[in-house]
Amino acid sequence: MTKPNTHYKELKDSYLFFGIAQKVNAYLEKNPGKRVLRLGIGDVTLPLCPAVIDALHKAVDDQSKKESFHGYMPECGDPALRECVHRYYAERGIALEKDEVFVSSGASDELGDILDLFDKDNTVLIMEPAYPAYVDANVIAGHRILHLPADKENGFLPMPDKAHKADLIYICSPNNPTGAVFSREQLKKWVDFAKEHETVILFDAAYEAFIEDETLPHSIFEIEGAKDCAIEICSLSKTAGFTGTRCGYTVIPKALERGGMNFNAMWVRNRTTKTNGVSYIIQRGAAAVFTPEGQRQIHENIRLYKENAAELMKVLDALGIWYCGGKNAPYIWMKCPDGMGSWEFFDFLLEKLQIVGTPGEGFGSCGEGFFRFSTFGNPDDTKEAARRLYEAFKK
Ligand code: MLT
Repeated sequence: MTKPNTHYKELKDSYLFFGIAQKVNAYLEKNPGKRVLRLGIGDVTLPLCPAVIDALHKAVDDQSKKESFHGYMPECGDPALRECVHRYYAERGIALEKDEVFVSSGASDELGDILDLFDKDNTVLIMEPAYPAYVDANVIAGHRILHLPADKENGFLPMPDKAHKADLIYICSPNNPTGAVFSREQLKKWVDFAKEHETVILFDAAYEAFIEDETLPHSIFEIEGAKDCAIEICSLSKTAGFTGTRCGYTVIPKALERGGMNFNAMWVRNRTTKTNGVSYIIQRGAAAVFTPEGQRQIHENIRLYKENAAELMKVLDALGIWYCGGKNAPYIWMKCPDGMGSWEFFDFLLEKLQIVGTPGEGFGSCGEGFFRFSTFGNPDDTKEAARRLYEAFKK
């Protein structure tokens, strides 16, 4: 008999954002015509920037001519795009080899796929609240999970402790969902801890482009010693609006080895077996993100999302509601008002104010009592949501 992966039984009934979308659809079916303001899933609303669109059009035309047509792409990425990412790191003082950069179809895909590199018999440390795909992907992979709760007292930035006996550590900074960002000194402590315990850090840098405080690190590889204990996974989804276009990159330094095995070489072996690469057209569009024009344009979009953040923060400040994030990250993590539970607040917002956000409990039990707003929404919706919030909670 075929044996199914019984770890699926250990998962919650539905994935967080899928479950929320179903709740919102059910609400709209019962209340047709209501204007629901969507600040839930972190999905971008601004279109791709002109530099990317031009490159995509040109790449489509390339595929129409025999001389410029591309079939299979190199499995680990188009060398031209790998070079762009390599330069992007070099500009920040991080020296990589070009084949330490792998092109991917996005961070969420990669965060699950990368687990192929690790034995089932590993314990994974996940700081919570956490992006729910970390937990789900590790449950499916059959790993043991050590949940490390963060809280308001440690600024949602937990630090290592001898008791954390894990073989893999997830770090997301700027953090989804809390928007908190580790300082260089704090990340150095995690790197030292990983080296001491021969652990590998999976560093999710999907939100690095939102950092505005110049003292904060964008990459784990800004930290001395990280190259032999970390893998960095990044995405153009939030940086450049690629949620529906799909492209990202992963850095696996050649110095990273455990048990006599080299993770960079293993990932080459994995990718050449399991993928035929990201499409030529998409990789051409992604390369345009790294041109000076592309960088200017994506940062203009990021600036517009930050205006959304400012609208929400202004109202939370006026209401005296505690929150973090918003400044160096596209998420605002707030305390639910009036002692409400996070799903209670979700229902209140949906039913009374027609605002969709994400309940903190969905990111782990220590998120209970907190709530996340995405700042990727439409500006008019965000302003209106801020207004409705203010009216509902002003004293
Ligand atoms: C989120 O809302 O946490 C993200 O959009 C999810 C994702 O990037 O897949």
